[in-house]
Amino acid sequence: MTDSRLLRGAVLTFDDDPGESPVPRPDSLRYWEDGAVWLENGHIHAVDDYTTLAPHVPAGLEIVDYRGKLIMPGFIDSHVHYSQLDIIASFGRELLDWLNDYTFPAECRFAERAHAEEVAERFLDELLRGGTTTAQVFCTSHPGSVDSIFSAARARRLRLLAGKVLMDRHAPEALIDTAVGGIRDSERLIADWHGKDRLAYSLTPRFAPTSSREQLDAVGGVLRNDASLYLQSHLSENRGELAWVAELFPECRDYLAVYERHGLVGPRSTYAHGIHLSANERARLAEAGANIAFSPTSNLFLGSGLFDRLATREAGVATSLASDVGAGTGLCGLTTLQGAYQVGALLGQPLTAWQGFYRLTLGNARALHLADCIGRLKAGHEADLVVLDLTATPLMARRTQVAETLGERLFALMMLGDDRSVHATWASGRPVHQRDASGTHAAPSRHMAHSST
Ligand code: GUN
Ligand code: FE
Repeated sequence: MTDSRLLRGAVLTFDDDPGESPVPRPDSLRYWEDGAVWLENGHIHAVDDYTTLAPHVPAGLEIVDYRGKLIMPGFIDSHVHYSQLDIIASFGRELLDWLNDYTFPAECRFAERAHAEEVAERFLDELLRGGTTTAQVFCTSHPGSVDSIFSAARARRLRLLAGKVLMDRHAPEALIDTAVGGIRDSERLIADWHGKDRLAYSLTPRFAPTSSREQLDAVGGVLRNDASLYLQSHLSENRGELAWVAELFPECRDYLAVYERHGLVGPRSTYAHGIHLSANERARLAEAGANIAFSPTSNLFLGSGLFDRLATREAGVATSLASDVGAGTGLCGLTTLQGAYQVGALLGQPLTAWQGFYRLTLGNARALHLADCIGRLKAGHEADLVVLDLTATPLMARRTQVAETLGERLFALMMLGDDRSVHATWASGRPVHQRDASGTHAAPSRHMAHSST
């Protein structure tokens, strides 16, 4: 049975990095005001003007009318913790206290498989509600937490990367694994999930302070044996963390050297944050081809610091964009873009909408070595899309109305949008979220009957 549809609406997709200037580089993007995306069996069959494509579609093909909306490739989140969904917006701590006070207790609950399964489903609901169709996900140290998110993603036909957190010290007893046991569990999970359907495995040593040298060495050994595996971790996020790493690993010249020493820095490595890096560390990351996941709402929320995106870029380091929920304050890519703009504004590096939307889509796909299958609306690519409503609120409608150019409209979307702007999300050629579907926003908005402080 074929599964085909034609989506009609404005269409925007990037072919390359548009650069940092308010005028995008020539040939870096395509835009069709009255465009169409022809989906067939989970893939994109063609993208063009509606009037060009319409005569070629078979009679009876379902046409989904998204006129007045903007169709883009599904957003990608390069770093997020699904286990922290329920502690998003927890008050008043910097990184290390936040981990101890909120994160570790929340992660302990994932020992229970039913809890992991329930959170996995709600997490994917929230991702799709925000237009994100692919993410690289931290689970917890419980193997069942990984089975739960992979099986939920597989059932929804999503492309997803995930891995079991490895940590054999400096965490609650209930979350700690061992160098040998952590690798044994990871290898079982790799065998069960890596390369199955749209899933890939990302080895996940939490960060240097919570792994022994033996554990880091063992992870390096697994990576060396299979170049298709990913790695995700944290690097240089917070000053207290940096001091702790220097104390724990006196043999290493800097934070990055801890990971290098154990063979953990390569082209499929994603390091979240990288805020307090030296020029020398940046040069080494560039050489290795690793990517830094810029997580602006997390960095602002935890007060971790301002990521110097342009210095990182000039050093030749690949950067990706991430929510880092639960330290991040929203799963929607638009929320991440607002944070990225604000961090950039404080550094005199304003982020253009072109650069922002490029990063959320093709840029992140490239950083994750997935650009041959996602991140673009292009024939042959997997059909993951987001349908955006630039008039989702009265204020957005007003701002969009007076905007004179596409660049201005996109900037207003980036700064004012959130999951209300996500009209629909499609994955593998099927609708997986509809904003106005009955039940999704069922709760009527009433004034609060009881107010308490
Ligand atoms: N560093 C080590 N673990 C974490 C985590 O869960 N979140 C963030 N933001 N940083 C970390
Ligand atoms: Fe993180």
